[in-house]
Amino acid sequence: MSTLAVLGASGYTGRLVVAECVRRGHRPVVIGRDHDRVVAALAGERRNLDAEVAEIRTADVTDGRALRDALEGVDLVLTTVGPFVALGRGVLDAAIATGTHYVDCTGEQPFLRWAFGERDTAARAAGVVAVPAAGFDYLPGDLLADLAAGAVPWPREVHIAYMVRTPGGLPATSAGTRRTVASLLGARGVALVGGEPVEELPGEERRLAWFPRPVGPRHAAGIPGGEPVMVPRHVPDIATVRTYLALPGWQAELMQMGSNLTRWGPARRTLRAVLERGTGGPPPDRRAATRWGCVAEAAGPEGIARAWAYGHDTYGLTAVAMVAVAEAVLAGEPAPGVLPPASVAPADALLDTLADRSDLRWSVARPDPSEAADVD
Ligand SMILES: NC(=O)c1ccc[n+]([C@@H]2O[C@H](COP(=O)([O-])OP(=O)(O)OC[C@H]3O[C@@H](n4cnc5c(N)ncnc54)[C@H](OP(=O)(O)O)[C@@H]3O)[C@@H](O)[C@H]2O)c1
Repeated sequence: MSTLAVLGASGYTGRLVVAECVRRGHRPVVIGRDHDRVVAALAGERRNLDAEVAEIRTADVTDGRALRDALEGVDLVLTTVGPFVALGRGVLDAAIATGTHYVDCTGEQPFLRWAFGERDTAARAAGVVAVPAAGFDYLPGDLLADLAAGAVPWPREVHIAYMVRTPGGLPATSAGTRRTVASLLGARGVALVGGEPVEELPGEERRLAWFPRPVGPRHAAGIPGGEPVMVPRHVPDIATVRTYLALPGWQAELMQMGSNLTRWGPARRTLRAVLERGTGGPPPDRRAATRWGCVAEAAGPEGIARAWAYGHDTYGLTAVAMVAVAEAVLAGEPAPGVLPPASVAPADALLDTLADRSDLRWSVARPDPSEAADVD
């Protein structure tokens, strides 16, 4: 069996990835910047740590040499060390330098633009397959966009919308996710519109997103997703790709106001300080009660198609998806380079794998264009 390594193993998401590796029969190398912190983080959940992990290694991601040493003998590294713009570049570079395949869970569009734009050639030359954004952000949208676009002749546009519902409506995010959101405050995102990259603030663009029933149509606001970077790589003639988050109208207004306000330094610093508080993440029962949905709508001259997926537990899905993508990379040997999830294996096969390993369900439909909206 190939050797997987998990970098960020002491973190909230990294622990879930280690658990998923073990569940799938791997014996991963786990890497953290502090040996005792890794042991303390994993020992609580893993009753038989010595047998379940191959080795604990230490490396700080800011130390290239230590990272390259830590990847010795590793076939594929899964990394959850973020914010990726600040901490992720050295990891991808170390993977390329050591010929190690790479999977991450970034949800940061600027990191994706850098990885696809600046490291694809080096990854190809090194024979490395690198798959960023293999978590909840933005694997479902990438796979569903591929399926929706494949279900209409000559697709020209794909619009991908996400929905997350937590019990009580309060966010169920980890401290690492909040720190990453804080690091992106005030930044514009890029959408692909009519074949051109267009800069937008979160919340500027609005659309009605058609989730399957019982959710139904929802207002959605534009966010800087991964799909505008990734989907054109496997749907080559696509002219427009946008990502959205379903939000009630007033929350979308608030998002737009907030993203305008955080372009102003003092407001950005204040909100950043609030978001950077705390440690850990939602407890398992709260994670399990978090419902998510994703719909991709593709449109062409001959109509539209929608592909959708839904399930529970966005962090659990991230761990399951990262390991499934890692296994697909090792089993399928796709052509090297920086690849979107949909270029690693057929989108329907990957979704079926996720459906076997989680409560994810998915489907593709060609809806009746005359359907009427009944929007909350
Ligand atoms: N795409 C998605 O859907 C998705 C889902 C989950 C998470 N994420 C992303 O994943 C990232 C991590 O989230 P999280 O909740 O797991 O955060 P977390 O609990 O804070 O974990 C961060 C991990 O990174 C390690 N780390 C930090 N700085 C390091 C350095 N200089 N060298 C080596 N390791 C370092 C930490 O090690 P220490 O314990 O030593 O500090 C810890 O293991 C965030 O960027 C988040 O947005 C994305």
